[in-house]
Amino acid sequence: MAREFGCVGVVGLGTMGAGIAEVVARTGIRVIGVELDDEGVDRARGHVEHSTERALAGGKLDAAARDALLGRIEYTTRLADLADADLVIEAIPESLELKARVFTELEEVCRPDVVLASNTSSLSVTEIGVHTGRPGKVVGLHFFNPAPVLRFVEIVRTVVTEPDVIADVEAFARKLGKEPVVIGDRAGFIANALLFGYLNHAVSMYESRYATREDLDAAMRYGCGYPMGPLALLDLIGLDTAYEILETMYRQSRNRLHAPAPILRQMITAGLLGRKSGRGFYTYAEVDSPVVVPDSLTPASAAATGSTRDVRRVGVVGTGTMATGIAEVFARRGFDVVLRARSAEKASSAVDAVRKSLDRQVKRGRLSEEERGEVLSRLRGVVEFDELADRDLVVEAVAEDLAVKRAVFGALDEVVRPGAVLATTTSSLPVIECAAATSRPADVVGLHFFNPAPAMKLVEVVSTIATGEDVLATAGEVCRRVGKQPVHCADRAGFIVNALLFPYLNDAVKMLEAHYADADDIDTAMKVGCGLPMGPFELLDVVGLDVSLAIERTLYYEFRDAGFAPAPLLEHLVTAGRLGRKTGKGFRDYG
Ligand code: CAA
Repeated sequence: MAREFGCVGVVGLGTMGAGIAEVVARTGIRVIGVELDDEGVDRARGHVEHSTERALAGGKLDAAARDALLGRIEYTTRLADLADADLVIEAIPESLELKARVFTELEEVCRPDVVLASNTSSLSVTEIGVHTGRPGKVVGLHFFNPAPVLRFVEIVRTVVTEPDVIADVEAFARKLGKEPVVIGDRAGFIANALLFGYLNHAVSMYESRYATREDLDAAMRYGCGYPMGPLALLDLIGLDTAYEILETMYRQSRNRLHAPAPILRQMITAGLLGRKSGRGFYTYAEVDSPVVVPDSLTPASAAATGSTRDVRRVGVVGTGTMATGIAEVFARRGFDVVLRARSAEKASSAVDAVRKSLDRQVKRGRLSEEERGEVLSRLRGVVEFDELADRDLVVEAVAEDLAVKRAVFGALDEVVRPGAVLATTTSSLPVIECAAATSRPADVVGLHFFNPAPAMKLVEVVSTIATGEDVLATAGEVCRRVGKQPVHCADRAGFIVNALLFPYLNDAVKMLEAHYADADDIDTAMKVGCGLPMGPFELLDVVGLDVSLAIERTLYYEFRDAGFAPAPLLEHLVTAGRLGRKTGKGFRDYG
């Protein structure tokens, strides 16, 4: 039988502490919340009231349950008031010195059998524990922000935490409705260790003006289905907290990718801490508000982005999944589309592929038979490059082979009318290589669609050092006209999405390889703790391990950062032919 914790103390009622107090009180347990001063108590009370209002509005609580919840939390400014507590959860700022002081005091106040937990997100629980006379009763209990919403918790056992204590805290976490994972004491544990390299990388991209904050965030939301973009998430977490986490991870890993991006420190010094100060990467309606308001960095409306070229007639080169998907996207939105194939057979089977995709839409009731006929009447398969002569935009979607792509661009340069926009859908080759194969590099741009093109909303619009401003504006406008979300970035390996996604996936493989956690726990951490649609191993198996390895190698060769070097385990799985779902075996076996 697990031990019941009838009264729980929460020390520090900032965003996390107040959220934890709410979660515990919601479960019917008495909570004693400790803050430094009356102002802190008022802020915490306001936080819980506000948060439970949202729960009420969202139908997660009724009014009586909310009142009962609020009634279960007592507020105090004295640690000595925790004498009744059976479990104390500390959630003060991430400073070992401060935490050590609190734990030393708790040692005096609490009965010897009381379990002392820290919500630290990166500091060593072992180091915190040695400041008490009961390191065996000290454990990490790490919640995710917002604690009332996200169901994941990491339970951190040190080398001396008693097994019973772990079992009791695990049962307690389940009682709170959480999904706990028990792990050892390493900087960042599972989720932060995988999340923060990615967040820091996004900050570096922002700092180097590789892409705007809006585009970085939109790329991950629309390209990967993340609930929030990295910069919006940093604003939620708090830049000061994020900085401390990165510092701790860097101290332990010496991985340059964990060294906090310099702009973080500057923003913290200037008081831009995120939502909690009303401004971080974005500006918010008020302190603690999730509502973003326009500021000086907000981009002008799409209509005001400068002169564009007229695009009505579109050409697509290629017959693969991307080419037919892109042809479908344009034809459905009223463009006249010519699809160029290497042979008459390939041309007709590509048009057939579009027809089949439209048939599926008709079956699902998303398209009428009449509309299907109209879309197909706008699409023509051809073999000669000459047929592309009158096009306003030509999108190349042939194999990811530079020589092949350069040959296509050379041919387009010969026949397509001057003033047309020439685009490549490459996901891994430099766009400038395609531009340099023509006599008109200013007209060449990257349009990286995601697979399947008709379903995925994101398009990365890639400008080279030569791309004309009007070509860029035209590319963005065309994307919007076909219902896509364009994001702009420069011509670097991985553009935005792959450059942010694959190093994180690789870090997950390295964590597995190091036996810190298993694939199920790592997938759970990222799905349940960060709201991601898939865990890293699920995603790797879907994408294909060979494809993933190729992308990781491209990133590594471009940036030569040791942290990007593909994990040997991934290399071995690919060598062994375990490529993921498509071969029935990858990180997992499929039936
Ligand atoms: N109690 C219970 N439920 C609540 C609630 C409360 N107090 N407040 C809100 N909810 C519910 C809402 O009713 C809503 O439920 P439905 O989806 O069923 O309608 C849900 O929670 C989402 O709430 P909102 O509608 O208010 O907000 P949203 O849909 O815009 O989502 C978000 C906001 C939950 C923050 C979401 O964007 C998300 O999950 N983002 C990812 C956050 C993340 O990655 N966190 C981890 C950060 S790392 C960390 O925390 C560790 C660390 O150490 C720093």
